[in-house]
Amino acid sequence: MKSTYQVLSPGDIRSAREHDEFASDLLFGLSQPVKEISSKYLYDDAGSQLFCRIMELPEYYPTRCETEILLRHGPAIVESVGDARLNLVEMGAGDGTKTRILINQLRGRHVDFRYVPIDISESAVSELCTELVQECPEVAVKGLVSDYFVGVDWLSHQNAARNLILFLGSNIGNFDPTRQVHFLTDLWNALNHGDYLLIGMDLKKAPEIINQAYNDRQGVTAAFNKNLLHRINRDLGGDFDPDQFVYYSAWDPFAGAVKSCLLSKAPQSVYIDGLCRSFDFALWEPIHTESSYKFSVADVHKKARHIGFEVVENFFDARHYFVDSLWRVVKE
Ligand SMILES: C[S@@+](CC[C@H](N)C(=O)[O-])C[C@H]1O[C@@H](n2cnc3c(N)ncnc32)[C@H](O)[C@@H]1O
Repeated sequence: MKSTYQVLSPGDIRSAREHDEFASDLLFGLSQPVKEISSKYLYDDAGSQLFCRIMELPEYYPTRCETEILLRHGPAIVESVGDARLNLVEMGAGDGTKTRILINQLRGRHVDFRYVPIDISESAVSELCTELVQECPEVAVKGLVSDYFVGVDWLSHQNAARNLILFLGSNIGNFDPTRQVHFLTDLWNALNHGDYLLIGMDLKKAPEIINQAYNDRQGVTAAFNKNLLHRINRDLGGDFDPDQFVYYSAWDPFAGAVKSCLLSKAPQSVYIDGLCRSFDFALWEPIHTESSYKFSVADVHKKARHIGFEVVENFFDARHYFVDSLWRVVKE
C-alpha cells in the first residue's frame, strides 16, 4: 500500500492561511499583560529537528520512560484493544519512534489497521510517512498535516473501524487545565462508544528531576525555545536579536507545571514588519513559550471520569515517572 500525507488546512506554514494565523496569534500573544507565544509555533522544521535531539538528551526522561512502557506493556495494550479492524490515529505524532513499537505489535498479531499520524509539522509527517512505507509496506499510512483541533474534526467523520487514538509524550500537558478538558471533550465527542485513547502523561516527581529535564547542559532546550524568535524573524519580518534573550524554565509546584519562557536581557524594542508594529520589553520581562503540566495518578482518573472515559488500565515505567493510560469511550 502506498504511503501518503495530506495537508489539512490550516496546517501548512507556507499557506497564506497559516501565515495569517501565526501573525494574528503573535499579535494577540505579544499584546497580553504577560507576553506569550503558543507552544505549537515551536515546531517548524528546525524546531522539530531540535525536539528530536531533546528526546535523546540524558536529562530528558519522558521519552525513555514511555519507550520502556511501550516495550514492556505494548502486548497488553494491543490485547486490550482487541483484533477488530482498527484506525490507529496519532495526535502530534512527531517522529513516531515510540509508535513503531505498537505498530510492530499490531503487525505481529496480523491486525487489519491503518495508521494516521496527525501533526502540525509538515516535515515531521512527511518524514514519518516516507520512513514507514519503507519499513512496513503492507501498512496503510495516511498522514495529516493539521492542528489537533482540525484533526479531531476530521476524526469525527471516520466511522468505518474502531479507533485507537494515541496522544503520547505528555502532549496533553502543554494545554492549561481548561484547554485539557476542552480538547479531551472534543475528542470524546468525535469518537464512538468503545473507541480507545492511549494517553501519555508525565507524573509529578522530585523538582530537581523535572528541572534538569528542561534545563539540559548542552543547551538544546534553550535553542529549541529561541528558535521561536528566529521563526518570527524569518516568517514575519521580525528584528529580534536572540542573543538579547535568555531561556528560563522552572517547576512551579503551585501550578503543577513547568513554566518555560524567554527573558529579555535588556530594555528593548522589537519591530515585526508583518505586524506593522513594535513591542517593548522591560529588563527581565518574560515571553511565556510553554507550560508542561504534570499529573498525579488521581488526576488521571478524575480527568477520564469527568469527560466520559473509563480507565481500562494504567501502564507505568519501573520508576513510576510516567504513565500511558488506556481509556475507553463510554457513551451508553
Ligand atoms: C512534545 S512533541 C511529542 C511528539 C510525540 N508525540 C512523542 O511523544 O514523541 C509534540 C508534537 O506535537 C506536535 N504539535 C504541537 N502542537 C500541535 C498542535 N496544536 N496540533 C498538532 N500538532 C501539534 C509537534 O509538532 C510535535 O511533533
